[in-house]
This record gives sequence, C-alpha cells and structure tokens, in this order.
Amino acid sequence: MSKLSIKLGIIFFLIIFGLVILMFLFLHSALVDSRIEEELISLQARGNSHRAILEKHFDADTISHVTLMESEANTDVVITDVNGKILGSSANRDSFKGYLHRSGFNIPRKGEILEDNWKKGSFISTVSPIEIDGRTEGRVYMFQDTESLHTLIKRLNGNFLLAGIIAVCLTLIIIFFLSKGLAKPLINMKEATYQISRGDFSVSLPQNGNDELGDLAHSISRLANDLKYLKQERIDFLASISHELRTPLTYIKGYADIVHSRNLSIEDRDKYLNIIREEANRLSDLIKDLFDLAKMDKNSFIIQKRYLDLTDFMLKIKQKFTPAFKEKEMELKVSCPEDLFIMADPSRLEQIIFNLLDNAIKYSPSGAKTLLTVSRKKKDIYIKIKDNGKGIPEEDLPYILNRFYRVDKSRTRSLGGTGLGLSIVKELVLAHGGKISVKSKEGKGTEFELIFKGAG
Ligand SMILES: Nc1ncnc2c1ncn2[C@@H]1O[C@H](COP(=O)(O)OP(=O)(O)OP(=O)(O)O)[C@@H](O)[C@H]1O
Ligand SMILES: [Mg+2]
Repeated sequence: MSKLSIKLGIIFFLIIFGLVILMFLFLHSALVDSRIEEELISLQARGNSHRAILEKHFDADTISHVTLMESEANTDVVITDVNGKILGSSANRDSFKGYLHRSGFNIPRKGEILEDNWKKGSFISTVSPIEIDGRTEGRVYMFQDTESLHTLIKRLNGNFLLAGIIAVCLTLIIIFFLSKGLAKPLINMKEATYQISRGDFSVSLPQNGNDELGDLAHSISRLANDLKYLKQERIDFLASISHELRTPLTYIKGYADIVHSRNLSIEDRDKYLNIIREEANRLSDLIKDLFDLAKMDKNSFIIQKRYLDLTDFMLKIKQKFTPAFKEKEMELKVSCPEDLFIMADPSRLEQIIFNLLDNAIKYSPSGAKTLLTVSRKKKDIYIKIKDNGKGIPEEDLPYILNRFYRVDKSRTRSLGGTGLGLSIVKELVLAHGGKISVKSKEGKGTEFELIFKGAG
C-alpha cells in the first residue's frame, strides 16, 4: 500500500473514529440517564400507589398486605409511622435503615427521590408521605436494588461495544477502499511523470472523471504527447541538418580533390573553384539561417518593433529588388497606398519580404511578373506577394512552411535552396503576432498573404 493512501487512511480513520466515539459516549450517557429516570419514576409511582391504599386503610392488615405484595417483586417497601418507626417491611435489611433518616419532615405530596446514585449506592430509593385528614401519619419508602440496574447497564455496554467494533471494522474497510481509490490516480500520475522524466513518453493515464484529478491526468497525457512530438521533431531536424550540411561539403570536398589532383586548364580550375566558393557560401548561409531559427526557438530572437511608414518602406524594397528581377528579365510591381503604418522590426520585415521575393525570382521563369500589394482592411494590414511562376503542387502545399521542405527534393544546382527560407518567414511573422497563408496552383503561380495588426 502506498504512503499516500496510508496517510489518507489514518487521517480518515482518526476523524471518523473520534466522531463515532463522541457520538457513542453521548448516546450511551443519554440512554443510561433516561433508563435510570424511568426506573425512578416507576419506583415513585409504585410507592404512591401503595400510599393511596394505605391512606384508605392505615392498619396492620393493609400494611402486611402491601409488604407481602412487594416481597414477591424485585422492589422493596418499608412503611413507617411519622416518627420513623418501622410498621412493616417487605425485606428485613439493615441497610434500609440508613435511608429512613434521610427524608425531611415536609415531603411533597407527589413524593421525593431519596437516592438516585445508582453507581455508588446499593439502592435507588423514593419516599411518599401518607396523609390522613391533612396530617402526615406515616411514610412509604420504596427501594430498588441497583444490582439489576448494573446488570442492565452492563448489557447496554456490551451492545455498545459490539456496535462499536462493527462500526470500526466497517469504517476500516470503507477507508481502505476509499483511500486506495483516492490515492490511485495520484500514484498513477506520479509514476507517469517519473516515466516522462526518464524520457519514456508512452504514458497512458485513465482519464475518467471531469474533476481536477481528471484534468490533471489529461494535462499530463497532453504533456507526454507534446514532448514525444518535440523529441521526434528534434530527431528529424537533426537528421535534416546533417543531411543538408553534408551535401555542400561533399561538393566542396569532391571539387577540391579534382582541383588538387589533376592538371586542369585555368578555365576549368576557375570553374571548379567558383563552385567551391558557391557551395561554401551556401553552407555559411545555411548555418546563419539555422542560427536564426535556433534563436527563435529559444524565444531569444529579439524583435525590435518600430513605428513604420509602409509607403516609404515598400519604396525602398522596390529599389533594392528591381535589379535582381531585371537580371532574370522579370518584373516586380509594388503597390502601396499612402498613410499605412505598422509596428514592426524593419530589418525582420525586410527579411520576410526578401525571402518571399527571392522565392518568386527562383521559382518563376524569365518574363514572369511579381506583384507586391499592401492594403488595409479595418485595422489589419495585408501584404500579398503574388507571382505567376511554376506554382506549388497541391500535395506539397500543407508542408511548404516546414523546415527543409522543398518541392524539388533533388537539389538542382541552379535552384538549390535549403528549404529554410519559408520556415524563417513563418517564425518571423508569428513573432510579430501576424498570420501567414499561401495559395498556389501548379503552373499558374503562387500567392503569399501576410496579415499584421496595423498601427496609427
Ligand atoms: N513562389 C514560389 N513558387 C513556387 N514554389 C515555391 C515558391 N516559394 C517556395 N516554393 C517552394 O517551396 C520550397 C520551400 O521554400 P523555401 O523558401 O522555404 O526554401 P528554398 O527556397 O528551397 O530555400 P531557401 O532556404 O534558400 O529559401 C521551395 O524549395 C520551392 O519548392
Ligand atoms: Mg526560399
């Protein structure tokens, strides 16, 4: 049995046991008191009824008749005259005499209790006055042996003890199951978290009940699933990184070997050295991108938002990118109305647009057109980048923002991107509190839509 259920069990038991003992004590003393009171009342009533007979005929015959009657019962009677002289007695006991002197002169008509201490005394006793013609002529003393009361109380105690033992046993059984039932989900969860901390995320917790324990079990299961997903993602990510790093290195090593070992014409040598430089550049870009992504994952990627005039900002973008478009005989059209403002980090926003325009250039044939439009709907700023390039196949569209995802898996040297550009765009847009979506038709073109909160 677990420590928790033992603790819970002991606490429950002490509380319930204390309550039961208190209740039993109260019930016991109430029962005993009322039983003794009943006995005293009936003793008094019996004395009063003898008194009634004796008041009618206060003579030796009636006295002996009354005492004879009592000698058969488990009570005793002593009849005295007004001075305390015994006129008749159902039993001849000396111990009665001690009680006869206890009564005063003015005993009330309904009688008086002489002794009710059943615990210490050997009798309980009452007295009733015999009044004839308004004068007290004698007294009727009634006695009841306390032994019978002691037996009665003993029997009551026995019953109470039995009921107590049964109650304790039942309580113990109930507490055993209750504390186990209460502690079990907690223990399961403790084991599950221990399992998670050891790196085993395949925990399964029963999630019955919609109370706090059920919620906790649900949260732990979700945590395990998230950790499992993160672990898998990390493994995939590392596998992709090592693959991505190996490819340019293989090129670099291969071409370096060629340059090193063969007698090449200066022309070929320059060509291979160029490839080596290109691949080295690509490698350094890749490492920079990876570093950016890693910083974003740690949330340490600092976005320094500023109040930006988008009209100005887009004009600069247009000036910067037009030569690159021209080089591929492509056209870039930028349309941005005046007076649009946004809170954003200018260098990061430029990085976003750079990546999207870079894709538009890379994945469109010469002669193609790219449109960059900025508009405002209510308080939101919409930035759309639309090209009429080769488009993205429908089946690739859901994964296009993932790290290292490329439509063309075989890396052609002319288009050989790393597949990190869009994932950086996505992280940057999210870091600005914005949204990104993409629509594309293969052979027709692609449109990226960014939504940011406007300012001013
Ligand atoms: N405008 C576009 N038109 C057609 N395909 C696109 C477009 N933009 C992206 N893609 C596809 O999505 C893939 C992922 O793009 P992403 O920018 O993430 O990586 P990349 O361009 O291959 O490499 P880099 O990290 O250098 O940007 C690309 O390889 C390309 O197949
Ligand atoms: Mg790209």
